[in-house]
Amino acid sequence: MNETTISSVSADDLTRHLPELGALLRACVDDGASVGFVTPYGVEESEAFWRDKVLTSLRAGGLMLFVARQGNAIAGTVQLDYDTMPNQRHRAEVRKLLVHPAFRRQGVARMLMMALEAHAHRLQRSLLTLDTRTGDKAEPLYTALGYQTAGVIPGYARGTRDHEQDRFDATTIMYKALSGQ
Ligand SMILES: CC(C)(COP(=O)(O)OP(=O)(O)OC[C@H]1O[C@@H](n2cnc3c(N)ncnc32)[C@H](O)[C@@H]1OP(=O)(O)O)[C@@H](O)C(=O)NCCC(=O)NCCS
Repeated sequence: MNETTISSVSADDLTRHLPELGALLRACVDDGASVGFVTPYGVEESEAFWRDKVLTSLRAGGLMLFVARQGNAIAGTVQLDYDTMPNQRHRAEVRKLLVHPAFRRQGVARMLMMALEAHAHRLQRSLLTLDTRTGDKAEPLYTALGYQTAGVIPGYARGTRDHEQDRFDATTIMYKALSGQ
């Protein structure tokens, strides 16, 4: 197994790695991840997400993008969104934690989250919040990392497969207060 390295990604890096990041997102969506999109999910749509949403936010400031690499491959990614309102400058949101199905259960997500939390701490963001589909693999991961469940909202998002438009899943809202790192 190759060593995993975590790094933050600049806007220029993101532009360069658009095809790989698009492929990572598609692999997760095709695998059934509930991260905002539904199948069929194509190349154009997945690259448009990184270009129009993520790149725009990176350039505007208020967003950090991390990637995990194994050799030349991008194994996973996560975002720290700290573009919060003036009364919540101590808070940030965890977004789009994605590990490619071929790289799972090797501690990649854990490493990405550690890097994200260390950076949040440096930015003096002491409260992290997130939501995740109730019952997904991410829930035990976040619990293992010390996130608490604030509550569950039923019927939050539709099923991700094209034939699941009538299925609605709950989401779990979680948070973690960061202490000195
Ligand atoms: C959830 C996800 C990010 C986990 O990535 P990963 O790199 O496989 O996770 P890690 O190997 O770092 O796991 C760390 C810990 O999380 C928990 N965990 C991770 N995957 C798990 C699973 N399938 N079942 C149970 N626990 C799991 C375990 O406690 C694990 O520690 P262990 O392996 O020592 O038991 C990955 O499955 C994924 O990308 N899923 C699709 C996208 C998604 O749902 N993202 C979350 C959006 S909120």
